[in-house]
Order: sequence, then structure tokens, then C-alpha cells
Amino acid sequence: MEKQNDQSRMDRIVSLAKRRGFIFQSSEIYGGLNGFWDYGPLGVALKRNLKDCWWRDMVAGHDELATIQGAPSPYEMAGLDCTIIMHPQVWKCSGHFDLFHDWMIDCRESKRRYRYDHLNGRWAAHRGKKVFVTTDQSGDEAPPSIAAKAQKFFGLRAKQVDEIEWSGDLGSLAAAVASGVLTLADALGPDAAAPGTLTEPREFNLMFETRIGALAGNDDDRAFLRPETAQGIFVNFKNVVDTSRVRVPFGIGQIGKSFRNEITPRNFTFRSREFEQMEIEFFCRPAESAEWYRYWRDRRWKWYLDLGLTEGKLQLREHDKDELSHYSVGTADIEYAFPFLAAGEFGELEGIAHRGDFDLRSHMEGKLVRKDGALVVETGDDGKPRHRGSGKDLSYFDDISRERYVPHVIEPSAGADRAVLAFLCDAYHEDEVPDEDGKPRSRTVMKLHPRLAPVKAAILPLVKKDGMPEVAIDLYRALKPHMACQYDEKGSVGRRYARQDEAGTPWCLTIDGQTLADKTVTLRDRDTLVQTRVPVGEVVHMLRDRLA
Ligand code: GAP
Repeated sequence: MEKQNDQSRMDRIVSLAKRRGFIFQSSEIYGGLNGFWDYGPLGVALKRNLKDCWWRDMVAGHDELATIQGAPSPYEMAGLDCTIIMHPQVWKCSGHFDLFHDWMIDCRESKRRYRYDHLNGRWAAHRGKKVFVTTDQSGDEAPPSIAAKAQKFFGLRAKQVDEIEWSGDLGSLAAAVASGVLTLADALGPDAAAPGTLTEPREFNLMFETRIGALAGNDDDRAFLRPETAQGIFVNFKNVVDTSRVRVPFGIGQIGKSFRNEITPRNFTFRSREFEQMEIEFFCRPAESAEWYRYWRDRRWKWYLDLGLTEGKLQLREHDKDELSHYSVGTADIEYAFPFLAAGEFGELEGIAHRGDFDLRSHMEGKLVRKDGALVVETGDDGKPRHRGSGKDLSYFDDISRERYVPHVIEPSAGADRAVLAFLCDAYHEDEVPDEDGKPRSRTVMKLHPRLAPVKAAILPLVKKDGMPEVAIDLYRALKPHMACQYDEKGSVGRRYARQDEAGTPWCLTIDGQTLADKTVTLRDRDTLVQTRVPVGEVVHMLRDRLA
């Protein structure tokens, strides 16, 4: 049984990702850039396959004539590809300009910056000296980190650590300050030598700013890199309705880059500053929205399972009422037990939110706030809207029921990079297989679903002679137009299998002496290691069927 929160397992996954060309640090030869990642040859294929699966399963391959199990009715789907830089007013009306921030805290001594809600700590005392020791580590890594810092602060040797008196539970610094049990003056910063160096927490907007045009300089040129793809869909709602004959209920899907200036990017690609999202905005009649919310929550959950994520490591978590955004009627997260998290902790892969009519109304009327239970346009001291909407009518007229209404929105919002990371972590296995002489050999194998695997099949001539390479090259050329495959004649066949296992290739086809006699090849299954003989002429059909 594989342990969760096994940092060494995570380290091995990260190392394989680098060694085999799945994921590299961005700008690595210059020392890298925190929060930015590049996908190597295997990684780009894996990520593209994942996005293609999403696009095909959710958008392009959707059967609008059928009622999908669990859906209240048939529905249509359309796609969009919007710009990364949009009119700045978009972000003012959406709320991102005013509200999309984290609380950060600086350390005057170490000059390091932390997310306030990521700092944990505990009271420690020694010989009359008492301090609240903090760390930016979480989960199982927090207690040893705190102990090491306390030891250093009190100037103790390793054998003296038991002299430290601990009080209270390890918990969030922010919660301790809010409850009044300490002030920041009592807190020892994670990288500080003395208490009292942490600044008061400050808001930090997560949107990356840029300037438009050559004469950049005044506030009118100010623009933002989108922090989510969703707003591009809302502001094009009318364009799609007017041009594509879709009728409510329908959804619009988009895949694209988003940018967030995360204060503390961490955990490999999990929290990056540049990442890709796969978002659907689903527009429906208000009275049916609760049913559509349940449909999308369950449909998206099933998608991850169908692509092979281990059910026991996934969690569908409905948000408590006090966790919901002020406009949200319901939200559920699909979460995965990433190996870098403590046992029992899960990290978000996707959120499915019931957003009511908040977004379309915001872009019509202006930024909305909740007042006495109702959403109203926020006004400034002058009584005018704080952020003016477009003034365009984004309501929908149903020409059958003759009703006009602002559709409600269900938003399944997934991260492509987080999903790739979850599939990589889930696929990573270490086991033992017999080598060519029947002796057990340890192997690392990526058990990726065939639809996700970067390479579907490897074609391996047993030896580089006796006409085997020629047959293998013919088979490679027959397969290549249908799927990603590789020809490999270098090294022993055992080493070649090992290379393909690490890349996650589900099938290896070996051309041997028998091939020349009876025109069959061996088909080796990556997971079961079962080898079967298949007529060469049937390989293309057989593998295409398995991928369908
Ligand atoms: N439009 C709604 C929205 O953007 P979100 O929960 O902020 O919601 C949706 O983001 C998904 O985008 C997350 O579930 C996650 O998979 C991904 N995501 C968000 N921030 C990310 C980051 N800094 N790095 C990688 N993925 C991120």
C-alpha cells in the first residue's frame, strides 16, 4: 500500500518528470523562475491529450440530441477562444479588481513575503523566554520545522530540545492573532532570528498588470492578464446567442492560459503563476438551475474516474454555507489526495459553482454586491455605480415560452495543469518485473490511461538484423497516421520496455524471429505485462479500437 504524504515519493515523481521530459522549470538555465513551468516532449503530449479529452468529451463530441444520464434535458455546447488581455472594465465589473486578493505579510529581517493564511505556529518557552514560533510549512512538515526553529531561537543543542515547553496546538497565525491570544510582535517569522519582524498583513491583488500601447504611462493604458478564462465567455454570451442559434440550456467551453501573481507558488505545478484552465459556463433557466448544478457536479466527477484517477484518492466536497462566495448558491470541489499533502488532506482540481445570474447582471448593470439578501449595484459616495456595467442587454428571450430572463450559470472550472499533476501522481508506480533472464528487476511505470498516454505504442525490432527492422518500420508507418507511436531499436529489449514504461506507453509491439515466419508480433501490455501474439495486419485496427 502506497503512503500518502510521502515527500520522497513526490520527489521521485518530480525527478522522473524532469528526467523523462514531462515538466521542466521555466528558464532553468538562468536559475528558473518561481511559479512558471515548461512542458517537455512527453509533457506537452500528455497535457494536449488531457485538453483534447476534455474538449471532445465536454464540447466537440457532445450529443445535443440525447439526454445524457442525470441531465434534466438535452442541451447544446459551443466553444470559444478569447483574448488574455481584455477591456479593464471586465475585471472591475467581475469583482476581480476590488476583491481578487490574498493577504500577505512581509518579514523586515529576511525580506521574505508570505501568504498570511499559510503561516502556522505554536507557543514555545524556555527558561522564562516565550515566543510564538511560525513556519510556512503545512501538514506533517510543520511540526519538525517549528521544532527546528525553536531550537535555533533558544540556542539549544539537539539533545536539549526536550527542554522546550510547548503550549497550545499548532495552528494558523492569522487565527491566533484574530482571537487576540497574540500580537504580531510576539511572533517569530519563519526565516527570522528574533520576534517582531513581521509586518501587518496587507492586501495584494493577484492580477498581473501590463500596459497597452507605445505611449504607455497613464492609467488609461493599464490592463490585466486574465486571472480566469470565464469572463471571456460571459462578455461573449450575446455574441454566441446571436450567431450560433444555440438555445438555453446551453454551455460554452473554453481552454486557455490564466495568470495569477500567487504570493507563494508551491508544490511543483499545483500553484503556478501561469497556468491553463478548462472552463464551462452553462446557461440555464433559473428554475432548473439546481438540477443542472447537480448534473454538472456528478458529470465532472465521473470524467476524472473514467480517465483512470483512483476513486479512493478523489473527494467531492460540497462547500459549507459560510465558504460560499456572496453570489453563489452552491459550490462543490473535486479534490485529489496529492502526495505532497498530509494524510487526510486534499487539493482542489476543479470547482463546480452555481453562480446564479451574478455574472451576466454584473456585465449589464455594473459591479454587484449583496445587500439585505439581494444583489444590487455597488455605489460610491456620490451614489453612482462604483464600476459601471456595459449597459448591454444580456437577458435571453425564449421564443417558445415567450419569456425573457437572465439565465443562471453553472460553472465547472478545471485546471489543466493541476489535472496533469494529479494524473502524473496517480500513474506513478514502482513494482518488480522479471527481466530477460527471469530475474526480478524493479521498474518505474506510469500507468496513464491510454487516451492520456503521450505515446500509445512502441515498435521494437528484437534485433537490428534478419529483416526485423524493415517489418518494424513498415508497422510504425502504418500506425503513425492513427496515433502517437515510437520506433526504437536501441539497447536490449528489456531496457527499451523500461524506457516505455517510464513514459507511460500502454503497448509495446515486438518484431521477432516468429514475425518473419507467421507475420505475427507480440503485443505487451504495460500494466499486466501479458504478451499476446497478434497478426501484423490487425495491429492498427486493434489499437484504434482500444483508443476509441
Ligand atoms: N472561474 C472560476 C475560477 O477560476 P478557481 O477555483 O479560482 O475558479 C479554477 O480556479 C481552477 O483553476 C482550480 O480548481 C485549479 O484547478 C486551477 N487553478 C487556479 N489557480 C491555480 C494556480 N495558481 N495554479 C494552477 N492551477 C490553478
